[in-house]
Amino acid sequence: MAQPESAPRPGAGPERQRHLYLAGLAGRVPRVPPQAEQLEARARAVMSRQAFAYVAGGAGLERTVRANRAAFEAWRIVPRVLRDVSVRDTSLTLLGRRVPAPILLAPIGALDLVHRQADLAVARAAAGLGLPFIFSSQASVPMEECARAMGESPRWFQLYWSRSDELTRSLVRRAEHSGCDAIVITLDTPLLGWRPRDLVLGYLPFLHGRGIAQYTSDPVFLAGLGEPVEGPSPSVPPTPRSMAALLEQARRHPGSFWRNLRSGAGRAAVRRFLALFSRPSLVWEDLGRLRDYTRLPVLLKGILHPDDARRAVAMGMDGVIVSNHGGRQVDGAIAALEALPGVVEAVGGRLPVLFDSGIRSGADIFKALALGATAVCVGRPYVYGLALGG
Ligand code: FNR
Repeated sequence: MAQPESAPRPGAGPERQRHLYLAGLAGRVPRVPPQAEQLEARARAVMSRQAFAYVAGGAGLERTVRANRAAFEAWRIVPRVLRDVSVRDTSLTLLGRRVPAPILLAPIGALDLVHRQADLAVARAAAGLGLPFIFSSQASVPMEECARAMGESPRWFQLYWSRSDELTRSLVRRAEHSGCDAIVITLDTPLLGWRPRDLVLGYLPFLHGRGIAQYTSDPVFLAGLGEPVEGPSPSVPPTPRSMAALLEQARRHPGSFWRNLRSGAGRAAVRRFLALFSRPSLVWEDLGRLRDYTRLPVLLKGILHPDDARRAVAMGMDGVIVSNHGGRQVDGAIAALEALPGVVEAVGGRLPVLFDSGIRSGADIFKALALGATAVCVGRPYVYGLALGG
């Protein structure tokens, strides 16, 4: 029978191992399997088709999703012997703060597709481990609520730069008030990737009012709800499905369901979000404005080219995250791990270089660190853990 498990401490691998074997003696197996492939398979069985497609899917033919894994397979570790490992310490100082392991939880949107408690459950789990959780711009729970659940535990905020500077500024201000230690600006999503698994299902969570909680809790966003939205009004035929989506939008919008339904606030929020999401015209020069908005450290996520890393250094950024968004944006893009050594060399120790896209095990984390990463962000595996274990 599955039993709830308490959170292991980072670096407590042998204790965790012992716990699992002893639990096995009593006939208990872990609810969340420790192998990445089984984790995904078991999570798939409890997730809706739409949720699994959204989480597992990548751009185009998913060549970059596969390349991310193949790049890890191409490296092997050469172990050394007779080094005293009776005491192990995985802790490090990241942006001036001590963290117990070089692991962060990557920003992942629309987590309520996977579990009712969504970001809140992840916030609690991250705080339990003392690992930083990067709140997504596309979260399903407002950042203030997650921050409250985390106490003093570290959190960062991931920003998608909106077409409205005023909204961008408001999100950043709220991140400061929520005790975030850094702003991560994601630069690889000026437009949403072409994701066939979602396209064949015709499913985008945001259209159902999922993953827009940072917006619907934002005073600037809400103040503009009555304003006309640019672009043609989408015409959706009235079918049982589109009616159900309308009800979902009203239910997910803050406040009374009936009032939202009558006023059309849920639908208006989705339309406004779509009109404001992401600014495809964003260029390097815009980043300077972020410095006017906040004193928090700023990290650039989605860096794959050494020249972009050099530019980040030259612009006084506080870190880069080597990432291809888990292969969800540019099909055929270089594996993130392949890009890592070049970026590390270009940065030359002047900034922390974080890494994500393809981390599935502790050995993967070791490889990324060995190739020069300061720390890594874990993505899909924790989403599968959320689906299975809350
Ligand atoms: C993401 N990622 C992401 N990144 C980001 O900056 N903001 C976001 O809202 C999201 N949302 C999101 C949703 C889902 C379902 C996935 C799988 C990923 C990208 C994420 O932060 C990270 O870069 C990847 O997850 C890394 O790839 P792996 O290791 O999870 O395959």
